[in-house]
Amino acid sequence: MYKIVAKEKLCPVVDFMKIEAPAVAKKAKAGQFVVVRVDEVGERIPLTLADWDDKEGTVTLVAMQVGTTTYKLAKLNTGDQILDLIGPLGLSSEIDNFGTVVCVGGGVGVAPVYPIARALKQAGNKVITIMGARSKDLLFWEDRLRSVSHELIVTTDDGSYARKGVVTEPLKEILEKNKQISRVIAIGPAIMMKFCSLTTKPFGVTTLVSLNSIMVDGTGMCGCCRASVEGSTKFVCVDGPEFDGHQVDWDLVFNRQRIYCDEERQSLELWKTHQCQHS
Ligand SMILES: Cc1cc2nc3c(=O)[nH]c(=O)nc-3n(C[C@H](O)[C@H](O)[C@H](O)COP(=O)(O)OP(=O)(O)OC[C@H]3O[C@@H](n4cnc5c(N)ncnc54)[C@H](O)[C@@H]3O)c2cc1C
Ligand code: FES
Repeated sequence: MYKIVAKEKLCPVVDFMKIEAPAVAKKAKAGQFVVVRVDEVGERIPLTLADWDDKEGTVTLVAMQVGTTTYKLAKLNTGDQILDLIGPLGLSSEIDNFGTVVCVGGGVGVAPVYPIARALKQAGNKVITIMGARSKDLLFWEDRLRSVSHELIVTTDDGSYARKGVVTEPLKEILEKNKQISRVIAIGPAIMMKFCSLTTKPFGVTTLVSLNSIMVDGTGMCGCCRASVEGSTKFVCVDGPEFDGHQVDWDLVFNRQRIYCDEERQSLELWKTHQCQHS
């Protein structure tokens, strides 16, 4: 069992959770993820390591409530326990002194971008970060991202805070102004990552995206997380989660993400009904 030692609501649909997991904290690297099972009847879901503390023996997860398991997770409080937490899984981000890098975080993708931006800054890069959300109430960790960036640009789709617009607009301007950008790392909704990749392509800038495929085992055995990159099949859990965004077959990513939509909706409705009967 894995004890929750701190829990906080970052915005109405996003929760921060610090969990005791010393073995995972000891090995964690930026870009890796864990697979979590909340209880004995629960499914396994992947969540990126948003932070970790080797001395404290804790890992930090940030989860957006979208379906049954993330709703269940959001209901837990400090002192409660999670049944399984396996990791760290996946390949870590490539961290080197590339020069000037742009990190883009959209929505809950801001959380996994944080340790990557921090590691890139520590490696000597100039880090420009763009963070975006649909509106002000969905923004979180602006301070954290500012602390690991040389420059931070914040956007909201509806203009309720900072610059109005989507993250690809400042990204394009930066690429137009600064010919020295060595790479872009974009993490967020698949549609955002696709458009970031389309924005950088004409500039020929290496662009890495972190694919949020549906996963089951997280160890390369079930094939559930497969994606097509550069025309060949990759398993996101063991070959990724980061891939060259210019080489990803995005249509396949979108199709596979929708594959269990009806079942997921039914599962959530059943779970909500069950909750009501027991409250
Ligand atoms: C490597 C990896 C790291 C991830 N890290 C995080 C993280 O740090 N924080 C976080 O909040 N989420 C993260 N995700 C996504 C998260 O795992 C899924 O959203 C989660 O499995 C949803 O489970 P659920 O039962 O709550 O919702 P479900 O019942 O499975 O889904 C409800 C609805 O949400 C949408 N949805 C579900 N999964 C996805 C997805 N992968 N992409 C797009 N839409 C989806 C679908 O419309 C679906 O119908 C990550 C995914 C991967 C592969
Ligand atoms: S989740 Fe099963 S192979 Fe990747």
